[in-house]
Amino acid sequence: MYKADENRYEKMTYNRCGKSGLLLPAVSLGLWHNFGDTGNYQNMKDMCHTAFDNGITHFDLANNYGPAPGSAETNFGKILKEDFSAYRDEMIISTKAGYDMWPGPYGNWGSRKYLISSLDQSLKRLGLEYVDIFYHHRMDPETPLEETMGALEQIVRSGKALYVGLSNYDGATLEKASEILEDRHVPFVINQNRYNIFDRIIEKNGLKMTAKRLDKGIICFSPLAQGMLTDRYLNGIPEDSRIRTDGRFLKENQVSDKLDKVRKLNDIAVKRGQTLAEMALSWILHDGIVTSVLIGASRPSQILDNIKALENTAFSQDELNEIDSLSI
Ligand SMILES: NC(=O)c1ccc[n+]([C@@H]2O[C@H](COP(=O)([O-])OP(=O)(O)OC[C@H]3O[C@@H](n4cnc5c(N)ncnc54)[C@H](OP(=O)(O)O)[C@@H]3O)[C@@H](O)[C@H]2O)c1
Repeated sequence: MYKADENRYEKMTYNRCGKSGLLLPAVSLGLWHNFGDTGNYQNMKDMCHTAFDNGITHFDLANNYGPAPGSAETNFGKILKEDFSAYRDEMIISTKAGYDMWPGPYGNWGSRKYLISSLDQSLKRLGLEYVDIFYHHRMDPETPLEETMGALEQIVRSGKALYVGLSNYDGATLEKASEILEDRHVPFVINQNRYNIFDRIIEKNGLKMTAKRLDKGIICFSPLAQGMLTDRYLNGIPEDSRIRTDGRFLKENQVSDKLDKVRKLNDIAVKRGQTLAEMALSWILHDGIVTSVLIGASRPSQILDNIKALENTAFSQDELNEIDSLSI
């Protein structure tokens, strides 16, 4: 029977999500990979225990995480029931809808029909009555923003989510969506976007500064560029790495194209007394704009390494310049 570490809240920093009442751990755990039907169930449990024992209160899912789509929610639901039922009120659990989930015209994008039925399915798989944060997973160029935001409003009013978030939006669309949600008094608190040393899109598309100006939180996914910004690929492609075990999203040529830069970044990390993973995460947190870095992991030891990033989030201007020069 799992019993959480009594000192779990002494190990983590909690950041306020914009101007809301919600505090999120500076490091959160995402279940995109390694929690589907191809993962090892005991390893999933060990990762959740390690995370929670170290103050990671936030677990991020989506309807389509697997493989098969939905299986990460089913597996996490089982872990919640077996180990975390006493801790539900200490946890922030999020899920999303927006990508392809079921066949036909109602299993994708941003219609009211899709969002509301998808969350109902997610809640069944998770074995929960509500999630803490429900996200629209990506911008929908066809569905009126009013309809998508109206669906988020209804989801909150029906008690199926406490807060809502937007994922993969740009600055201009975020601003329009935020106006609609403010008008309707919907607790929209957070943006979830990709951000790492190599991927600066949110600096360019206005998301980062718009979220700051509007006092909304930002949680950054793939902060380690799916493992590229770690020591994982410095000496070849390990058989147990994401490239080999999954291969759908991170490809060998992406790693080989960046390897020289990764090595130079690793040298900077070593000089700072950090692993490259620690430095990549602390870089994201260094200017205080990002609320939480949303890591993935394939084993508990990676989670422990990543939390150490919080021990040094200060960078000299020379270090920042050097990192910038290696980012493109
Ligand atoms: N909203 C969206 O559209 C969206 C999209 C993608 C992801 N997300 C969310 O973001 C979460 C994180 O994404 P991600 O998994 O791409 O994040 P990531 O943190 O960039 O990559 C995680 C991978 O990096 C490697 N790793 C992690 N810590 C390490 C360490 N200390 N040393 C060496 N290697 C390490 C592991 O790879 P190995 O498996 O090779 O060991 C791990 O699976 C997802 O789970 C999901 O919740 C959201």
